[in-house]
Amino acid sequence: MAEIRKIGICTGGGDCPGLNAVIRAAVKTAVLRYGYEVVGIEDGFDGLIWPAQKSRPLTLDDVSGILPRGGTIIGTTNRGDPFKYKFVEGGQEIVKDVSDDVIRNAKAMGLDALIVIGGDGTQKIGLQLWEKGLPVVGVPKTIDNDLSATEITFGFDTALHTCTDAIDKIHTTAESHHRIMVVEVMGRDAGWIAIEAGLAGGAHVILIPEIPFTIQKVCDFVRDREAVGKRFTIVVVAEGCKQPGDMATKFAEQKRAVPRPSQIGYAIGEAIGMCAKRETRVTVLGHIQRGGSPSPFDRILSTRFGVAVVDLIAEKKFGQMVCLREARIHSVPIADAVGAMKAVDPNGEMVTIAKKIGVCFGD
Ligand code: F6P
Repeated sequence: MAEIRKIGICTGGGDCPGLNAVIRAAVKTAVLRYGYEVVGIEDGFDGLIWPAQKSRPLTLDDVSGILPRGGTIIGTTNRGDPFKYKFVEGGQEIVKDVSDDVIRNAKAMGLDALIVIGGDGTQKIGLQLWEKGLPVVGVPKTIDNDLSATEITFGFDTALHTCTDAIDKIHTTAESHHRIMVVEVMGRDAGWIAIEAGLAGGAHVILIPEIPFTIQKVCDFVRDREAVGKRFTIVVVAEGCKQPGDMATKFAEQKRAVPRPSQIGYAIGEAIGMCAKRETRVTVLGHIQRGGSPSPFDRILSTRFGVAVVDLIAEKKFGQMVCLREARIHSVPIADAVGAMKAVDPNGEMVTIAKKIGVCFGD
């Protein structure tokens, strides 16, 4: 294969703290160590569909000062799959495969490799582009920490700090008002943020998608706490939790409709409040968890990934993704990394220690 001169870099899917730190480390390594030119592909893969409008050179100056910045300086989208790209034509939404344009444009731009920073969905697109002949390397990303190929993803630690701080604040007001306070945290499919932030914040109840629970069990637990003089309860709920089996009954008893499933924190909060007959308040932390400056841990992990992914290019290890295993940086085939979710083990150490200190999972 010809010598590498120019590489592209893109960020896809939901943003998270540490993306800019990866971009900075990759640009610095590419320029200072290997003498490559770097092109920023804007808004996921959009920059390879419209290169004239959505791509630009990334120099050392461009990445200066971005280490502590949240978000991504090259933009992102979770709607830009080139294999199923959505356009509006004549007022109608149509779906087209524009992946051939992506490959053609990457060649025309002189890109010898493309760094794809993203979660499961984005890595799958990267893999398909690699299979079509584009030399792709990957960096895993998700604040949910549910990618099985890597022990941890950057952004997760920062999200934990944000959630722990919020739970600490909720604690003081819960105690003053003798209330049940429900905090909904992110985690579309897995309960990692909920269990770790719940432990760090001293939550009394943690509800995660991996452990089926009932409203009744949570209410019994609240009553047991009251029996020993604890008049407030903190409940952390992962957004990915499904409605518990007894939720419909609890609402039916009060002749009320069950809230929409998209409002799981509110639905659970209302159900617990009704059943325990206690004042309950709900806080949904939402996208605050994805914003802000990365923690020192995330800055360092992002920097390690950014350097390692450019090393992969120099070694021409295309189709690979960097990862962290036993606290060391490795790489794995992207094909092995996508599709396999890392769930919280209901019998694993985290849940076991939480149960030993009296945390209720509603099971
Ligand atoms: O996967 C990361 C994540 O933050 C999930 O926890 C959340 O469900 C989702 O992305 C939200 O995505 P968006 O609001 O950007 O569509």
